Amino acid sequence: MYTPENSRYEKMPYRRCGKSGLLLPAISLGLWHNFGRVDRFEHFIEIIHATFDSGVTHFDLADNYGPPPGSAEENFGKILKQGLGRYRDEWIVSTKAGHEMWPGPYGDWGSRKHLLAGINQSLRRMGLEYVDIFYSHRPDPHTPLEETASALSDIVRQGKALYVGLSKYPAGQAQQMIRLLREAGTPCLIQQERYSLFDRHVEEGLLEVLQQEGVGLIAFSPLAQGLLTDRYLNGIPAGSRAARPTGFLKQEQVTEEQTGKARRLNELAARRGQTLAQMALSWLLKDERVTSVLIGTSSVNQLKDNLKAVENIAFSEQEEAEIKQIL
Ligand SMILES: NC(=O)c1ccc[n+]([C@@H]2O[C@H](COP(=O)([O-])OP(=O)(O)OC[C@H]3O[C@@H](n4cnc5c(N)ncnc54)[C@H](OP(=O)(O)O)[C@@H]3O)[C@@H](O)[C@H]2O)c1
Repeated sequence: MYTPENSRYEKMPYRRCGKSGLLLPAISLGLWHNFGRVDRFEHFIEIIHATFDSGVTHFDLADNYGPPPGSAEENFGKILKQGLGRYRDEWIVSTKAGHEMWPGPYGDWGSRKHLLAGINQSLRRMGLEYVDIFYSHRPDPHTPLEETASALSDIVRQGKALYVGLSKYPAGQAQQMIRLLREAGTPCLIQQERYSLFDRHVEEGLLEVLQQEGVGLIAFSPLAQGLLTDRYLNGIPAGSRAARPTGFLKQEQVTEEQTGKARRLNELAARRGQTLAQMALSWLLKDERVTSVLIGTSSVNQLKDNLKAVENIAFSEQEEAEIKQIL
């Protein structure tokens, strides 16, 4: 039976999520890749335990994570039974509904029908009574925002989630949803959005909206799925996300332009005494509006490398200028 490290809270800084009462670790772990039925259980249980041992108290899932869809939640449930479940009040788990999950007209998007069924299925798969954060995984162009907001709010009232969040909502829609949720008495805790040195679209309005509204931001794919690490500096290695048929990073996304920039960023990182992965995470964490960076990992070594990012999150003007010039 798993017993966590006693020293686990000593190294990780925790940040307040917007204007809420909830603190999240500066680095959180996502189970999108590498935790499905196709992956090796002994390997990823080791990663989850090493994560919690390092003070990372937040695990992020979604109904469709796997492959196959649902299997990451099932595996997380199995891990809980092997000891981590005894520490339920010490960790935060999030899940989401909105992407395609089952056949027919109710299997995706943001209707009340889909979201209420989605949370019930996720709870069953993980063997949990409630999740800490439940997300609308993506905005639905055809369902009124009022319907999605009231479904999220009811999920909290039913005790199936403690907080609700949004994922991938553009700034204007995010603001409307945040207001609807506040009126419903279940304020939006956090928005989850892609944010990295290679994708800075959140700086065009969303970050400001979230700050004004007192909502946190959790940055997903902060390493650009591995492009902002040393993984692809010399080609596409076997076993990497881009090399696997089930990976969401396609070989054609590993372009010479991206790897050229990554090589130059890597040199700057070395001068800062960091790996490229660490610098990419530090660069996001220097902005206090970023509550947490939500990483993925395929090994304990990668995890440990990434966790050191919190040790140096200051950038000189000269370093900032160099980064701007490289990008
Ligand atoms: N809301 C949404 O729609 C949405 C969308 C995407 C992701 N997310 C969330 O964000 C989480 C993270 O996304 P992500 O996995 O794309 O994040 P990421 O941190 O940008 O990429 C993770 C990948 O980078 C590589 N890597 C990580 N650390 C490394 C290191 N130190 N050295 C070398 N390579 C390293 C690994 O690739 P290899 O596997 O090749 O080793 C790892 O699987 C997901 O699990 C999910 O929870 C949410």
